[in-house]
Amino acid sequence: MERDSVVNPYEVKGNIDYEEIAKRFGVNLIDEALKERIKRLAGGELHFMIRRGIYYAQRDMNWLLDEYEKGNKFYLYTGIGPSGTMTLGHLIPFALTQWFQEKFDAEVYIQIPDEEKFLVKKKSDLTLEKTHELAYDDVANIIAMGFKKGKTKIFLDTEYAKTLYKNAVRVSRGITFSMIKDAFGFTVEDNIGKIFYTSMQAVPAFLMSVEKGKNIPCLIPLAIDQDVHFRIARDSIAKLGYYKPASIQSKFLPGLSGKPKMSASDPSDTLYLNDDDETVRKKVFKAFTGQQPTAELQKKHGGNPEICTVCQYYRFFFEDDDTRLKKIFDAERSGSILAGEHKQDLYERITKYLAGQRQKKEKALERMDDFIVRD
Ligand code: TRP
Repeated sequence: MERDSVVNPYEVKGNIDYEEIAKRFGVNLIDEALKERIKRLAGGELHFMIRRGIYYAQRDMNWLLDEYEKGNKFYLYTGIGPSGTMTLGHLIPFALTQWFQEKFDAEVYIQIPDEEKFLVKKKSDLTLEKTHELAYDDVANIIAMGFKKGKTKIFLDTEYAKTLYKNAVRVSRGITFSMIKDAFGFTVEDNIGKIFYTSMQAVPAFLMSVEKGKNIPCLIPLAIDQDVHFRIARDSIAKLGYYKPASIQSKFLPGLSGKPKMSASDPSDTLYLNDDDETVRKKVFKAFTGQQPTAELQKKHGGNPEICTVCQYYRFFFEDDDTRLKKIFDAERSGSILAGEHKQDLYERITKYLAGQRQKKEKALERMDDFIVRD
């Protein structure tokens, strides 16, 4: 059967129906009861990305919280494969991971697989030296998100290989080529590094259990496309005697052109963390709003905030207050505010945010060794 969308870590295309993908992947939608439970255990507050359904699906969250309530604390794991400057969309898993760390006083493992995009991307200028260099830039941006020193370990695959490889080999034994081929659409022409890579990504999901010599629950915040690696590795992890990881899956930040996923390789569609103000202005003012062709018509008929990227950027990032967000959406729907005004305001919020992030990143550069582990 031809599906109208492809979603896996190396390809996202077509019309994305998030509920259908959840079904296809076998993950559960996050329901109100689970939201309430997370909120209660987090001390009465729920991260806006969960509240708004940006994080919309999960595996084994209720089990994880059962364990937590029994006193069996969990750790968190997420990561990023360096391929260029980090984008706004890349921050989504780190924002939630940081929130969980704070609310649940959890330890965090962050993997920087600096071999992944080297293996996967066809661009010949993305050498292993280049991805390694980019990895350090990513680490600084990640530390800037507010992770706790002493409770956060960050590692590059090429620098933590002794620890990671040993365990990757063990997981890889329970994963067949056929599983990988089906999940990623690989053919016999694909390089063999890509085939093995899933086992590297699986390791931090049980690494703390290996280190502590007893099972520790793990929670992985991630974008839905990354679920594929863990779905494949789950049974193999369990066969080794470790807990299968719990996970919480997000939707994608839409591209500025209205594409369902911001793509790190298309500059006009994407906001990079190092975009200067003028670049941000140009991109935001060109962004797709889905508004009526003229101001007249917009005032008369209004627009659709669900497809307006400007509205979606408020929803994903730049307005965490639900009442104020509703006002923005209502104004868009009724046509009482025109795109130019929204764009100007959004532009200001983005540049302010990016300036703050860059300032924190500068400070983070001095604290890299408080976080990075090597072996
Ligand atoms: N494969 C991810 C990427 O393309 C990087 C990654 C490594 C990751 N480990 C992870 C993502 C765990 C989410 C959770 O960027």
